[in-house]
Amino acid sequence: MKFFVDTAEIDAIAELNALGMVDGVTTNPSLIKKSGRDIIEVTKEICDLVDGPVSAEVTATDADTMIAEGRKLLEIAENIAVKVPLTWDGLKACKTLTDDGHMVNVTLCFSANQALLAAKAGATFISPFIGRLDDINLDGMDLIEDIRTVYDNYGFETEILAASIRNANHVLESARIGADVITAPPAVIKSMINHPLTDKGLDAFLADIKAANIKIL
Ligand code: E4P
Repeated sequence: MKFFVDTAEIDAIAELNALGMVDGVTTNPSLIKKSGRDIIEVTKEICDLVDGPVSAEVTATDADTMIAEGRKLLEIAENIAVKVPLTWDGLKACKTLTDDGHMVNVTLCFSANQALLAAKAGATFISPFIGRLDDINLDGMDLIEDIRTVYDNYGFETEILAASIRNANHVLESARIGADVITAPPAVIKSMINHPLTDKGLDAFLADIKAANIKIL
């Protein structure tokens, strides 16, 4: 499973990247706003840091402008994936840009039918939003499972990029179901290491190391 980091914060990306935890990055207009940076500048810095796909989202809602924005974003670096919303115009932009050989991430996916349309438009990645479905008392994991089934039934190569991940359980469930990629905020990726028995076990070992004065170096 690939790990993408869902942030535009350079330091956070660099920290996880140094541990080999970053296969790519996703950004969106809200994350760019939060960073307080210019979209082109910050996206270039991310692309310089990370080898894998870096999703940068268009701002337009009509296909022609989305395509023009996508082409400008693609000039930033070779690892840009243009992110477009799951609308007919977004799918038109997706088809044009993927036909030209570029990576496209179709975002704001909330149903398996939408994911089917994105795959047929040639999407490189489909981004189903788990957390936002959970927020309205639906089950985001059901969506990941449905898309996995539909894509496997027909051999679609579009990668399932499980998004809007809010906790470590979302990561685990996505991995169980077979999502190709998860994108999660740095804090969620970091929280995956937590286990009280690890802390308790280490405390006990440290106490014994001290009591027996065990030394290696
Ligand atoms: C994915 O590409 C999105 O940027 C992101 O996962 C959205 O997450 P949110 O619902 O927590 O804002």
